[in-house]
Amino acid sequence: MAEVLITGANGEIGHSLIHFLAEEGRYQVVGCDLREPTPALRRLCSHFYVGNILDQGLVDEIHQNHCFDKVFHLAGLLSSSGEKNPYLAHEVNVNGSMNIMKLAQEDANRRHKPVVFMFTSSIAVYGLQGDPNPDRALKEHENVLPTTMYGINKHYIECLGDYFGVRDKSMEEQRMVNLDFRCLRFPGIISAESMPSGGTSDFGPEMLHAAAQGKSYKCFVKPEAKLPFMVMQDAVKALLDLSRADMSKLTRSVYNVNGFSVSAETIRRRILADFAQADLGYEVVPFRQKIIDSWPRDLDDSAARNDWGWRPDYAFEKAFDDLLIPSVRRRYSGD
Ligand SMILES: NC(=O)c1ccc[n+]([C@@H]2O[C@H](COP(=O)([O-])OP(=O)(O)OC[C@H]3O[C@@H](n4cnc5c(N)ncnc54)[C@H](O)[C@@H]3O)[C@@H](O)[C@H]2O)c1
Repeated sequence: MAEVLITGANGEIGHSLIHFLAEEGRYQVVGCDLREPTPALRRLCSHFYVGNILDQGLVDEIHQNHCFDKVFHLAGLLSSSGEKNPYLAHEVNVNGSMNIMKLAQEDANRRHKPVVFMFTSSIAVYGLQGDPNPDRALKEHENVLPTTMYGINKHYIECLGDYFGVRDKSMEEQRMVNLDFRCLRFPGIISAESMPSGGTSDFGPEMLHAAAQGKSYKCFVKPEAKLPFMVMQDAVKALLDLSRADMSKLTRSVYNVNGFSVSAETIRRRILADFAQADLGYEVVPFRQKIIDSWPRDLDDSAARNDWGWRPDYAFEKAFDDLLIPSVRRRYSGD
């Protein structure tokens, strides 16, 4: 059976992705994360390596024991954590990513076939500073002006993906570069099943989880702060769909994907419609508000729609009515 590597497997996206891949049963899933997985998560993987992607010994051990068809490289430090510790963010997000890209290239050489390398980039690669029309939906090539260490790291790996990737290369060049690099620029992701940590879009899911637990919560950005979001189910669908897309249909290596664009206040009001007693207020954290101010308010994902048929399953109302509110209620009521 083909082997797939998931780095950052114990994170929010990793958890969900492993469940989908395991249910499908087409792959042996190899996980890697700094943090020990739960026994339930470990059971879904053929192997799980607890360790640091900066540790060359660990990367060599994984390389000796496996040969991957696909890699989902999710390990990283998120935007707010990255601003608090930019040197560590650079180490993990750039040098760690290089280590995993090199491992995938060596597997491609062993297999004489490119390895599909899925990378999760972010809207943090964009910068709205000085933009006279900040409300428009940005296309992939517009306003690529990252302001955070996280955004700079993500954009650099996107560039390396093109450098090492087989796209637009001659047969001669393809002998030297052998990654089938595919990248999604994700908006903020909302999940009822897991809690985010260290991201700047976390106020959305944090309001939801706090309300369902009856805890008071102070949103760290202004009510009017608007961002693109999607639910975790759509994020995993996008990762799987792009990883399986016919290479000849892909006109680029980096794709925007979007679910819905809403303000913090719109999310707060929707949550209050179901949790009327919830104590959801605001206490703006200036460094996090500054990050949000630089990020796009909407994303144009028409390239993904045209090239590989991307369609989110959940628009704003459906996401909350059918998925997030019922799931978060179940999670905290113990049903
Ligand atoms: N969640 C979002 O809203 C969002 C949006 C855009 C992009 N992304 C990207 O998607 C990826 C996964 O995000 P997530 O939400 O699951 O984040 P997460 O923080 O929940 O998961 C990241 C995982 O990486 C692991 N990790 C960190 N440093 C490591 C290291 N040095 N070695 C091994 N493992 C390490 C962490 O332990 C964690 O389990 C990240 O690269 C993130 O930048 C996430």
